[in-house]
Amino acid sequence: MRAWLMESYEGVEKLRLTEVPDPQPGPGEVQLEMHLAGLNPADAFLALAQYPAKPTLPHILGRDGVGTVRAVGPGVTNVQTGDLVGLLRCDAGVEAWGTLAGKAVVPAASLAKVPTGWSEEQMAGAPLVFLTAWQALAQWGELPTAGQVVLVTGASGGVGVGSVLLAKSMGATVVGLSRSKEKAEIVRGLGADFVFDPSDPALRKQVLAAIAPRKVDFVVDSVAGPLFSQIVAMLGYGGRISVVGRSGGAVPDFNTATLFFRRNRIGGVAVADFTPEGAQSAWAEIVRRLDAMGRRPVVDQVFPFENVKQAFARLAEGPMGKVLVKVA
Ligand SMILES: NC(=O)c1ccc[n+]([C@@H]2O[C@H](COP(=O)([O-])OP(=O)(O)OC[C@H]3O[C@@H](n4cnc5c(N)ncnc54)[C@H](OP(=O)(O)O)[C@@H]3O)[C@@H](O)[C@H]2O)c1
Repeated sequence: MRAWLMESYEGVEKLRLTEVPDPQPGPGEVQLEMHLAGLNPADAFLALAQYPAKPTLPHILGRDGVGTVRAVGPGVTNVQTGDLVGLLRCDAGVEAWGTLAGKAVVPAASLAKVPTGWSEEQMAGAPLVFLTAWQALAQWGELPTAGQVVLVTGASGGVGVGSVLLAKSMGATVVGLSRSKEKAEIVRGLGADFVFDPSDPALRKQVLAAIAPRKVDFVVDSVAGPLFSQIVAMLGYGGRISVVGRSGGAVPDFNTATLFFRRNRIGGVAVADFTPEGAQSAWAEIVRRLDAMGRRPVVDQVFPFENVKQAFARLAEGPMGKVLVKVA
């Protein structure tokens, strides 16, 4: 099969397109012929050894995708040869070979049918970021409710779009942040009630004026950096921040006083914590909510398989939704 091999920890620029033997499924596993693979920033971090997983080399990146089942290993009963399926978060692309290849061997327990009415593209990049967004919103034991305010940083990105759509499905008032006017307009079209530019010096005042007399109840933050302390300052009593990523770098200064004055809470999100069963039930709930709203995951661009490096460059720029690669 054709595959983008990672042969060093020197970044995605060093990936090499080559031929390798097809991987064969073991017990509980399935061989997929990949149609589409979805990219995630974690792929690029892993390729730079900036990620907890350090798979043995050569490795194949890619944690999301859609393909056709071509072979099933012993004990597999939930899918059969010829089924069209998408991949929920699992070890593929992390410790095991991933989806940037003609074929991928994945756990049968982590497969889900392409939902009725969805395109393969809509499915291909959605699971990892929507499961992350779901965990970010659900990890506090109570979901945001109608009238509560959810602030989403990096709202145009994969996790951001997932968080905006899921928070709207809960009836929340959604404030999105995007540095781009064009993407801000698209995020509004997804249902965000307000979208502001995180680099605007008046950000805090603008957000608080828009949602007055409320303050922010929940934050899904994938940016961190200098923005983090501004977000903390927008929280109301009992406000919670789900920390997903740090695209904006380290948090330079942060006054913990607000945490005790307003009983604020900050909690990390780890999509890797989903068990296969947990991912299946969260995914079913995500699909149900999107279908009920008539919404779909957002695809930024689909690149040819040969152009994986351009696809990663697009992802690094800050996409509007998911960046995909057409494998076959
Ligand atoms: N903890 C977990 O389990 C988990 C799971 C998934 C992802 N993540 C992490 O979460 C982060 C976001 O993932 P993603 O898939 O949503 O990425 P993405 O699709 O690349 O989107 C990130 C968005 O953040 C914004 N952004 C990027 N750099 C920024 C900066 N310096 N300042 C302000 N905004 C910035 C951009 O939006 P604008 O251009 O519109 O401003 C961009 O579209 C990544 O760091 C990823 O590794 C963590």
